[in-house]
Amino acid sequence: MLEIEGLSTGYGRVQVLWDLCLKVEEGEFVALVGANGAGKTTLLKTISGVIKPWSGSITFLGKRIDTLHANDIVDLGLSHIPEGRKLFTDMSIKENLEMGAYPKRTWKERRETMKWVFSLFPRLEERAGQLARTLSGGEQQMLAMGRGLMSKPRLVIIDEPSNGLAPRVVSEVFDILGSLHKEGITILLVEQNVRQTLATADRAYVLENGRIALQGSCTFLRESDHVRKAYLGL
Ligand SMILES: Nc1ncnc2c1ncn2[C@@H]1O[C@H](COP(=O)(O)OP(=O)(O)O)[C@@H](O)[C@H]1O
Ligand SMILES: [Mg+2]
Repeated sequence: MLEIEGLSTGYGRVQVLWDLCLKVEEGEFVALVGANGAGKTTLLKTISGVIKPWSGSITFLGKRIDTLHANDIVDLGLSHIPEGRKLFTDMSIKENLEMGAYPKRTWKERRETMKWVFSLFPRLEERAGQLARTLSGGEQQMLAMGRGLMSKPRLVIIDEPSNGLAPRVVSEVFDILGSLHKEGITILLVEQNVRQTLATADRAYVLENGRIALQGSCTFLRESDHVRKAYLGL
């Protein structure tokens, strides 16, 4: 579904990603874990067309997307749920969700899609008229996910959804990602919460200083000495 080959990019003259290769097959739940500053957000922004690659290629559903505009990439069925939620804070839940349905393909069906999103996040329905900025951190993350689903994506790329949330809410967010995956949505999750991520995803990549240091099934990575020492504190 998604294939990245030899990807390098950065900001100005500073290179952040080095010759990166990564694949996500349809129906998989893949994670990319790494410390703060490793280049995780840069990678997701490059996939969604916000940052242009210096070299390498990104293919989605058999089509090169690294030369496309970000809105055309959303149209193809790839939704980026950004780090820090990036909600329209002075708009209601319902209005934020509608903003996610802007691709022509999905605008007409926005009412039905919103019903589906409300079925996944009942708490959003109860608060549909409430302003986004008045929601708790966990509810804001749910709204960011709901808005990302309004474009009816086939692949969701999601940046640190657990960041800043209380442990109980973090578990809830991971449960929701598991349910989305069961609904048939392919997921590429970026996280610093290595423990919970390796317990949830099928397969993961470990990003260190802009390079893939290690990859494999989550079972394999949980047992790797390097992962245990560097990320799990064991
Ligand atoms: N807009 C930017 N301009 C310049 N450098 C940036 C910018 N955004 C991120 N960086 C740098 O790129 C590197 C990787 O950052 P980032 O992709 O945000 O990492 P992560 O998401 O893994 O924490 C860091 O060294 C960071 O300082
Ligand atoms: Mg980041």
